[in-house]
Amino acid sequence: MKTIIEPFRIKVVEPIKMTTAAQRDALLRRAHFNTFLLAAQDVLIDLLTDSGTGAMSAEQWAGIMRADESYAGAVSFFRFRDSVKDITGFANPLPTHQGRASERILFELVGGTGKVVPANAHFDTTRANCEHSGAQAVNLPIPEARDPRSRHPFKGNLDIAALEALLAEVGPENVPLVIVTVTNNTGGGQPVSLENIRAVRAVCDRYKLPLFLDACRFAENAWFIKQREPGMSNRSVRSIVREMFDLADGATISAKKDGMVNIGGVLLLRDPTLLQRASELLILTEGYVTYGGLAGRDLEAMAQGFQEVVEEDYLEYRVRTAEYLGERLLQAGIQIIEPPGGHAIYIDARHLCPHIPPHQFPGQAVVAALYRSGGIRSCEIGSVMFGGTTPDGSPRPAPAMELVRLAFPRRVYTQSHFDYVIEAAQEVFAIRHGLKGLRIVEAPPVLRHFTAQFEELA
Ligand code: F0G
Repeated sequence: MKTIIEPFRIKVVEPIKMTTAAQRDALLRRAHFNTFLLAAQDVLIDLLTDSGTGAMSAEQWAGIMRADESYAGAVSFFRFRDSVKDITGFANPLPTHQGRASERILFELVGGTGKVVPANAHFDTTRANCEHSGAQAVNLPIPEARDPRSRHPFKGNLDIAALEALLAEVGPENVPLVIVTVTNNTGGGQPVSLENIRAVRAVCDRYKLPLFLDACRFAENAWFIKQREPGMSNRSVRSIVREMFDLADGATISAKKDGMVNIGGVLLLRDPTLLQRASELLILTEGYVTYGGLAGRDLEAMAQGFQEVVEEDYLEYRVRTAEYLGERLLQAGIQIIEPPGGHAIYIDARHLCPHIPPHQFPGQAVVAALYRSGGIRSCEIGSVMFGGTTPDGSPRPAPAMELVRLAFPRRVYTQSHFDYVIEAAQEVFAIRHGLKGLRIVEAPPVLRHFTAQFEELA
């Protein structure tokens, strides 16, 4: 077996500015130990997110030049519509500026006080939009999802028994829809099996509830299904993707992930009444239905991106990247969520820094150390992101895990960049006992991880 290489060559390059460890220490302090507050030019390898950070293809850039910027009925809109329809089967996709815009519209339509929205796992913006509408967001992952070492092939699955129990407890009349997030970002980029989506569908059918996908990483999820689910290896990713969407009544998509673009989103709805009402809300806050807050060129880039992401050479390379980094970190003694996910590797910060309690943010301490050591920007997914208080002021329960996410921009970094990341992580491992906890000095009540300011504890 030969090395799985990047299935592209590089036509445009963007220089990276080198920094010293001393410079990075000063920059980190100036950013109050929050890597969101760093200037991107002070980052060497930016693994903050895989969202909107990918490199576009020559065909996407060509589409950008061809784009029709007409206000209504632009050619670019029809290309976008046909491409999304080709991939998902939904005939009338609504463009939005990004995933959370789709979520906001959806929850304005179906949310509200007293409603309960179950999911395998809500992403933070999904939860925030759900709660903003007055509804309650409930995560129902399978038990294996809470064990970083469990090698369950579909750790993103929704716990069907827990869903049944929740419906019995709160009453299906209070549940406007069920969400399946593919892949489960907050739980380690873990996939959901087709069998599990079918099982959720069966429960939804029994209670006459709509099933929605949070389909940001639909292609990576389909690749895992092809690799891991019995009977799927001979199917094309395209056909698996199509079956995933066929099982759903709607979807919110951030095209900044598997849409392979820097900005863009989609809202998919099958129900004509809901579609009509969503179109009205779209016009109210995003833009007319044939551009949804985007330029024609963004629609062109999405139309092409949705086609490129289901190419299997690309997906093989993409998922191999995460696997490669994951294997090396495990060899170095760094516990990660196993098996490696699709778009990211998640370091188990509690395992790396058992001396730092959750309220002193072990994940944030590791984030700081990775930046100091290698100029690597990562993101905490733990007590910083999920802590704080609920809208009614009560403290949120401690998250099950304290994680540090290394998320991979699509088609941006090469294997030697990842080798460098491995070296920096090894350095952090060597000094792990000396890493210090942090204290929050200032933070907003919602989505606090973006702007919270920290101080290092003595
Ligand atoms: N759903 C999931 C599963 C996501 O991962 C994201 C974004 C969204 C919805 C919202 O999409 O950013 O376009 O509004 N995740 C990014 C991340 C921000 O870094 O994981 P958006």
